[in-house]
Amino acid sequence: MEKGKKNYTKLILLLVIMAMTIAIYGCHVSPSKDGGSREGVASIIGVSQANMREEWRIALINELRAETEKSPDIQVITTDATGSVDKQLQDIDNLIGYGIDLLIISPCDEVEMGDKIKEVYDSGIPVIVMDRAVEGFDYTLYIGPDNEVIGQQAGSYIAGLLGDKGGNVVELSGSPTSIQGSERLLGFRDAIRDYPDINVKKLYLGAESKDASYDMIIAAKSIIEKSDVIFAYSDNMALGVCDAVRDLGLEDKVMIVDCDGFKGADEGIDLVSKGRLKATVSCPIGGKEAIDYALSILHKESGVPKQVILRSYLITAENIDENLSLMNAAVADDGETIKVGYSQVGQESNWRLANTRSIEEAAKVFNIDLHMEIADQSQERQFEAIRGFIEEGVDVIVVSPVVETGWDEVLREAKAAGIPVIMSDRNVSVEDREENLTTTYLGADFMEEGRRAMRWIRDNVKTDDGKKAIMEIMGNEGASPTEERGKGFREILADNPSYYIAYSSHGDFTFEGGRRVVREYLEKNEWDIDIIFAQNDDMALGAIEELKAHGIKPDEDVKIVSVDATKDAFEAMVKGELSCAVECNPVIGDQLMKAIRDLHCHKQMPFRIITEEKVYDQLIAEDYISKRIY
Ligand code: AHR
Repeated sequence: MEKGKKNYTKLILLLVIMAMTIAIYGCHVSPSKDGGSREGVASIIGVSQANMREEWRIALINELRAETEKSPDIQVITTDATGSVDKQLQDIDNLIGYGIDLLIISPCDEVEMGDKIKEVYDSGIPVIVMDRAVEGFDYTLYIGPDNEVIGQQAGSYIAGLLGDKGGNVVELSGSPTSIQGSERLLGFRDAIRDYPDINVKKLYLGAESKDASYDMIIAAKSIIEKSDVIFAYSDNMALGVCDAVRDLGLEDKVMIVDCDGFKGADEGIDLVSKGRLKATVSCPIGGKEAIDYALSILHKESGVPKQVILRSYLITAENIDENLSLMNAAVADDGETIKVGYSQVGQESNWRLANTRSIEEAAKVFNIDLHMEIADQSQERQFEAIRGFIEEGVDVIVVSPVVETGWDEVLREAKAAGIPVIMSDRNVSVEDREENLTTTYLGADFMEEGRRAMRWIRDNVKTDDGKKAIMEIMGNEGASPTEERGKGFREILADNPSYYIAYSSHGDFTFEGGRRVVREYLEKNEWDIDIIFAQNDDMALGAIEELKAHGIKPDEDVKIVSVDATKDAFEAMVKGELSCAVECNPVIGDQLMKAIRDLHCHKQMPFRIITEEKVYDQLIAEDYISKRIY
């Protein structure tokens, strides 16, 4: 009897421990360690959260759970690393021990967790990285917001609120270690930089909490009395500010704007609807998107991109209802044919031909009725094509624009006709982002491509014998890949003064253009260039031909780095003529068609959808050449 009682007590203890484990890890079930017995469970998703202190991280876990509840054959196991890299490393090993099929991770530290993420990814378990991007592309998908853009949206709104008169703005700075906060503040300052009549007073809290914000505002009463707007970069801080401003009796005088815009009592949206906040810029959490993409990855569907940058919205009392209904508008795909008008920039390069092919092929698979117009590098012809699509009454318009600017008017016409526009491969820059003239951008990260090209140069072209001269052969003037590749390249160049740009000219992304730039240089100069950075392969190959015609040996006398990594570029690397090719992937058809179908289901579109890209040089070109499909 005594023994039976002991066993009973042990059993109760065991059950209590098991229950506690489940509660701590927040999992719906406790799967077997080897993942063997998983009755009724098709897939287990492990979620490694950096910490559960920050509000939005809790919101992310809640959103992930709410989403998985809709798919009963999916189970989620959640771990909390409590802000410790060591614990997060251990958590991931435990999750793998449980037999997870996919890992979602919000890393404590993007640098320190990078190797572990790569290890899991290389082992064949798909990894979705959230919120903080790790360097390189050794993960399946990254989903996160653009905090700098969020800060810019808040800044532009405040500038508009104050108008030409300007005014006094108090900027609240929370924890200096908050990456999110620093990026938002950067964007905010960037947006108000050109308004000399806005006077900014900075208040440093040292913490991102409601209480610290409250205390600071009360203590800074004399400053607050003279201010027009207070900017707080999180909902938490904003709540403290709202309470303090109320207690100071200044509610009718001082406007408060924040970022986060979470749903829930006393969060941003609630505070806007109560009139306590003038506006909030929503920071999308991404849980819904993470589960959506996780399912696509687990079902091995095509069209999963490499990075999804979520869209943030400015929410005011005037548009709150519209925004809330947008957030809840998604419906199931009815599979109907979608009529799409596509304005393609031209046929300037092999890259472009592969891009057009990929779009045409994917359209058939995704039941898209595609009407493509090729503009031969003319913005006027693109305007005509877009207006034609509007008249035809297509469901969606897609544009790959020849240049970045000058699109506002025609995009407004599409918006007025109720036709959403997607930017493909190249983006536009519009006067007022809040007009939401485009739904999303799908394509490459051109800035990163430029950075990669310069990083390769830094790591592979020695400077022991002196400074190295670079010739830059650019694409057509005003095109987003021209501008952004140039910017990214210069960003890394600025930290490496042993290299400098000696000559820069436009080759318009064509073979002939690349030849011309080298020819014109040689007409006026002796060859004294150490490195050519060509912004695409066609121009690099043209430059190589011209160099050879002048007896200059490519790669030996001058290193040549280009962007695109087409099959021709691989052949040139294998021949020992091209030194390095940074990939820009034209095969975006499936991803684009998936985005179009999502749009058709009224899903909220991300801000940017970025494709996967690598860097190749002569050392590895031979291993990859047979696998190149463009
Ligand atoms: O927009 C992408 C760029 O345009 C490619 O790098 C280039 O080859 C093309 O013409």
